[in-house]
Amino acid sequence: MPEEHRIILKHADEPDYTRDIDCYLKHGGYEILQKAFKMKPDEIHQEVMDSGLRGRGGAGFPTGLKWKFLDRKSGKPIYLVCNADESEPGTFKDKQIMYKDPHQLIEGMIISAFSIQAKQAFIYIRGEFFEGARILEEAIEEARAKKFLGENILNSGFSCDIVVHRGAGAYICGEETGLIESLEGKRPYPRIKPPYFPAVLGLYQSPTIVNNVETLCNVKHIVEMTGKEFSKIGSPGNTGTRIWCVSGHVQKPGYYEFPCGGLTMGEMINEVCGGLMPGRKLKAIIPGGSSAKVLRADERFKGKLKDGSEFDWGIWDIPLDFDGPAAAGSMSGSGGIIIMDDSTDIVQALSNITAFYAHESCGQCTPCREGVQWMRKISKRMCGGDAREEDADLLLSIANQIEGRTICAFGEAAAWPVQSFVDKFKDEFKAYAETSPVSSESGDKQLV
Ligand SMILES: Cc1cc2nc3c(=O)[nH]c(=O)nc-3n(C[C@H](O)[C@H](O)[C@H](O)COP(=O)(O)O)c2cc1C
Repeated sequence: MPEEHRIILKHADEPDYTRDIDCYLKHGGYEILQKAFKMKPDEIHQEVMDSGLRGRGGAGFPTGLKWKFLDRKSGKPIYLVCNADESEPGTFKDKQIMYKDPHQLIEGMIISAFSIQAKQAFIYIRGEFFEGARILEEAIEEARAKKFLGENILNSGFSCDIVVHRGAGAYICGEETGLIESLEGKRPYPRIKPPYFPAVLGLYQSPTIVNNVETLCNVKHIVEMTGKEFSKIGSPGNTGTRIWCVSGHVQKPGYYEFPCGGLTMGEMINEVCGGLMPGRKLKAIIPGGSSAKVLRADERFKGKLKDGSEFDWGIWDIPLDFDGPAAAGSMSGSGGIIIMDDSTDIVQALSNITAFYAHESCGQCTPCREGVQWMRKISKRMCGGDAREEDADLLLSIANQIEGRTICAFGEAAAWPVQSFVDKFKDEFKAYAETSPVSSESGDKQLV
């Protein structure tokens, strides 16, 4: 069985590990910060570049490159924002870090803030994480008391503080520009980008870096082991470890940290997670949170990888890194792997997902605001016993008119599940229509 390689979650589940600062210090806490202060900010940035670290928030964008886009000449303050919104269904990794090892995040943030020269940092935490916000505030207070935060930290000449900001429980606040608007006290309508990205015009129209919790924790370990050593974990383009959250029909759902590409989907599900429930067969997998396209158990995935090599995979062969699920036509997203066995009613599963996106659309862009409601209503009606032959095409048509027509990627997040579920399980949508008690009735029908 593949062995977990825990870097970020190293101490998270140790029985005698507590989240207070004394325990953290006993385990070498804040020593890497002292190492970082002996380096120049640009040297830390170079280590992050060399590490090949890609963001763990969903898009997998190279962290060092994002930091490079920062407008350092504007004369305005630079801000660091930690995205702790973690609201993608199927994802529960950042929570483990914040609840069990908050000082790791704080240390990663101070080092990152020092590198980008941000004197003010924020943790934007999901509204439902009441306990998480309390834990972080306590930890920040402890760090301040030991002079790891505040003025002239450890006599380095660098000053920085962190503010915890609680969201009010909206998925869109995880989108970085929606988050920034919310942090400014406004309704979280995402901003149009390009031309201006947060690294140039972000919080309070100032240069801002938004990074995920897991990403910022990695910065600490990069400084500890050097970027070059970090890049040896995983494979080129897919470096470091990733925390995968597995939920659904497996014997041992949970969070597991492995080197990127260190195991396949089959090894994860059949060995690490103890396999499916007795007597059950796999039906489908969503590999990267509910917005990722669903993969059918009997699909074959063929093509060329970035390095030019050809692949021909079944679902169990997909490597768990950034590029594997993408090559299979989906994405690794936020690392939320959702397993569905043959007891799953696909139409109901989609109806559940569309209900989520319909509830969470911010309403700024018409195709999304209207489209997600129609997708919810149609899929709900189907499940309510009035499924029609034309529904599958109707759902597809609506999803296709959302994709690419919205300010932020929420539109894609809502459209991709619909497109992939309908496309890959047309037979089930058809069967719903054929067996629906109401669909055979003649006469004028309302759309919903
Ligand atoms: C609708 C939507 C929701 C998102 N939710 C989150 C989230 O909860 N947490 C997160 O880190 N990134 C989320 N993202 C991605 C962020 O916009 C952003 O890319 C990320 O925080 C950047 O951090 P990274 O570079 O470290 O990955 C979301 C994106 C979209 C479009």
